[in-house]
Amino acid sequence: MKTKTVFVCTECGNEFPKWMGKCTACNSWNTLVEETVITKQPGKSSRSGMKSDAISALENAGDSAVPEHLKNISTTDEIRTGTGLSEFDRVLGGGLVAGSLVLLGGDPGIGKSTILLQICQHIGKTQKILYVSGEESLRQIKLRADRLGVDSDNIKIFSETNTENILECISREKPDILIVDSVQTMFNPNVNSAPGSVSQIRDVASMLMRIAKTYSIATFLVGHVTKEGSIAGPKVLEHIVDCVLYFEGDQNRSYRIIRAIKNRFGSTNEIGVFEMNSSGLSEIKNPSSAMLSGRPQGVPGSCIVCTMEGTRPVLAEIQALATPTAFGNPRRMTTGVDFNRAMMLLAILEKRAGLHLSSYDTYINVVGGLRMVEPAADLGIIIALASGFKNKPVPEEIAAVGEVGLTGEIRSCSFLESRIIEAEKMGFKKIIVPYMGAKDRKKFKNIEICQYSNITQVMKDIF
Ligand SMILES: Nc1ncnc2c1ncn2[C@@H]1O[C@H](COP(=O)(O)OP(=O)(O)OP(=O)(O)O)[C@@H](O)[C@H]1O
Ligand SMILES: [Mg+2]
Repeated sequence: MKTKTVFVCTECGNEFPKWMGKCTACNSWNTLVEETVITKQPGKSSRSGMKSDAISALENAGDSAVPEHLKNISTTDEIRTGTGLSEFDRVLGGGLVAGSLVLLGGDPGIGKSTILLQICQHIGKTQKILYVSGEESLRQIKLRADRLGVDSDNIKIFSETNTENILECISREKPDILIVDSVQTMFNPNVNSAPGSVSQIRDVASMLMRIAKTYSIATFLVGHVTKEGSIAGPKVLEHIVDCVLYFEGDQNRSYRIIRAIKNRFGSTNEIGVFEMNSSGLSEIKNPSSAMLSGRPQGVPGSCIVCTMEGTRPVLAEIQALATPTAFGNPRRMTTGVDFNRAMMLLAILEKRAGLHLSSYDTYINVVGGLRMVEPAADLGIIIALASGFKNKPVPEEIAAVGEVGLTGEIRSCSFLESRIIEAEKMGFKKIIVPYMGAKDRKKFKNIEICQYSNITQVMKDIF
């Protein structure tokens, strides 16, 4: 055995003998980190040697290298366990699948350990849980458990970071559910680099994956995130696991959103909405009313849109402020809305609706910490901006949905009917929708459906 220093790309996992500013394999900048790896003694590694190795492997192939016919592989429905939080089950695709590996990432203090300890209480009624913490002492976890009211007999806590001891503990305890908090603090003493380094994370994650699959233990890995918001460590970590969940939300607000980024057992479009309070995270079954609570009445620069989060329509408030620019270049800021999309909408307003926003600073904000990525929010952003600019409020009972094109046309969007139903349910009296799409308008008794094909007409009618 011999050690050597290599430089590993955190994006693609390729190794290089020397440091470079740019990874030549995946072209990303500043991603090479120094790692010490243990290598086997250099043997006969010439090309001819490799060839003869391959041929001898071919000749000596045993029974273990036999593939299975696809049609002969028997399947049963995945066994799913409810976590006790239906919002969390929804994100997991209908519950926790036995033997699955779930990575939960999120900012510090967002509530990762809290939610995992909370679900232990429900799962602990029927299954054995091993909670391995590399970050907190047993006393700290107990204090949190007391605060959350978690007292199930089936939960065992182990404060450890060495994976050899953890393996031993797993083989002794044989849990049904394993929680590892966090993957960045665990280390394998046989890998010669610090905990949290690319090779350690890769090693720990693949070891846990093998255990999860072999012994059918549903495993949760907590992952730290980097300053940019992605999970710290190599990209391969996200490839190894079955499900990647991100815990989002503003630290200063109590709403928290769990979003699936990857899910081998369900859709990735679902979100779960929670509220953090002293007794832990509570579910928000009706996100629309939570997002609209405390909405200012009769003030300019606010518009309600109905956005889809997976298959679920959520009403949210978009706020916009336009103030005259004090310096040469106007300042533009967006929170919760894609910056480039917002710039495009500003240009459309300027050109197609004749609002001279180029000499105004503009600020756009989605209330409640939601991120609006779908184009159906365009019309709401445009109306909020125009309302902020003209200083005229949008009538309170109006919601808007629709994508806006460069010529100022309002284009159809998906799930229009579910959006209208949600707006009607939340007491809105009017909804502005694209001309195409809303076919059975008469179906809706309590909401007036106003169809528009161009933003000029919308501007005329509202303001
Ligand atoms: N007594 C309390 N009352 C209300 N909220 C609390 C209380 N104690 C903790 N919290 C909330 O719980 C959060 C910490 O949760 P938790 O420890 O689960 O976060 P985490 O994501 O695991 O953080 P880390 O990355 O540091 O492990 C705090 O930021 C705070 O919002
Ligand atoms: Mg924690």
